[in-house]
Amino acid sequence: MPRDLPRILDALLDGVVVVDAAGCIEQLNAEASRILETSTEAVAGRGIEQVPGATAFAKTVRGVLAGAPACVEHEVRVPRRFQGDVLVDAAVTPLVDDDGGVDGAIIGLRDRTLGAALREVERERAGVAALGQIASGIAHEVRNPLGGIRGAAEILAKRAASDRDRAAADLIVREVDRIAALLDDFLVFGRAGELKMTPVNLHRVLDDVLDVLAVDPLGARAKVERRFDPSIPELHADADRLVQVFLNLGRNALEAMGEREGTLTITTRLRLERRIDLGGGERVPTVAVDFEDTGCGIPDSARERIATPFFTTKARGTGLGLALARHFVAQHGGTLQIESEPRRGTRVRVSLPLRRLPARDAGGERSAAP
Ligand SMILES: Nc1ncnc2c1ncn2[C@@H]1O[C@H](COP(=O)(O)OP(=O)(O)OP(=O)(O)O)[C@@H](O)[C@H]1O
Ligand SMILES: [Mg+2]
Repeated sequence: MPRDLPRILDALLDGVVVVDAAGCIEQLNAEASRILETSTEAVAGRGIEQVPGATAFAKTVRGVLAGAPACVEHEVRVPRRFQGDVLVDAAVTPLVDDDGGVDGAIIGLRDRTLGAALREVERERAGVAALGQIASGIAHEVRNPLGGIRGAAEILAKRAASDRDRAAADLIVREVDRIAALLDDFLVFGRAGELKMTPVNLHRVLDDVLDVLAVDPLGARAKVERRFDPSIPELHADADRLVQVFLNLGRNALEAMGEREGTLTITTRLRLERRIDLGGGERVPTVAVDFEDTGCGIPDSARERIATPFFTTKARGTGLGLALARHFVAQHGGTLQIESEPRRGTRVRVSLPLRRLPARDAGGERSAAP
């Protein structure tokens, strides 16, 4: 006896959507229902454009129904209401009747979110590792002569014959101190495995950071909104590093809003659906922390470079804030993603695993699962 076709479709790892010649939904299998957050009962008979998640590939479906050949669209973003967006490969194939006419289409959906997340983690890891090597090299070479320069300038300051000479020598000392502080920041990239992991209450860390920002004149005109998910359990993390990460993100957000009024919204969310899968195939639920501002946004021309050390658009910036934040997040086995619309605002999302992942190149030390 032939098997039941809907059950076979439901067993597939790929999503399947069948539409008729008019582009109306006939059937979804289980995976397509998961991806599109709906069911056959809810959307049968509706035009493909009316299914919110399907709008991303609806045009392609219309094209195939109008006679275009089968085609695959790679990494199409499916917007979702309840869980995070997913990236899918959508393969659209015409269904042909006995007379050779197109009387529908079948859409195969393959979830690529995990693959994309993995590629990003790998890219960040490689970047952080390369940076670490450069950092230790440079720091060594520059640090040694700095001590000598500072000492000599202090002697000159003491022996200075005029106020002008003394001011010049003091300037050297101050600038040397500034370079030394910069080097200290930069040296962090060269150190691995220095996290002090303890159970951390994420919301307490965020509250501390927001308290610091609240007294900063930077934030005088900004409103800060907290949307914390109270169900988030304690993380296994380095609280001091997380403070540095969030302080940098918060400062950037306030600086982006500048003198204008604006809102910084901090959202925390457990993302059980979106997991980052590392190394041995272990899947770990993550916590997403979003810093969203209504500031100037990031122009397309700068987007690629903003997390590169020393890239800054600010007169007094060092350009190390985001690079450091990304480094610390990678050490925790997490990711830092930036989305921005010029003139409208920016969202930086830090995704941290609930448990520590073995952050190989970035973190050094491995820890066993708790
Ligand atoms: N929330 C944001 N909105 C708009 N632009 C941003 C935002 N965050 C970062 N940027 C851009 O990225 C650049 C690099 O940021 P980063 O924090 O690394 O350095 P910085 O803020 O310039 O200097 P520092 O952090 O040392 O004060 C900034 O100069 C700015 O152009
Ligand atoms: Mg900054």
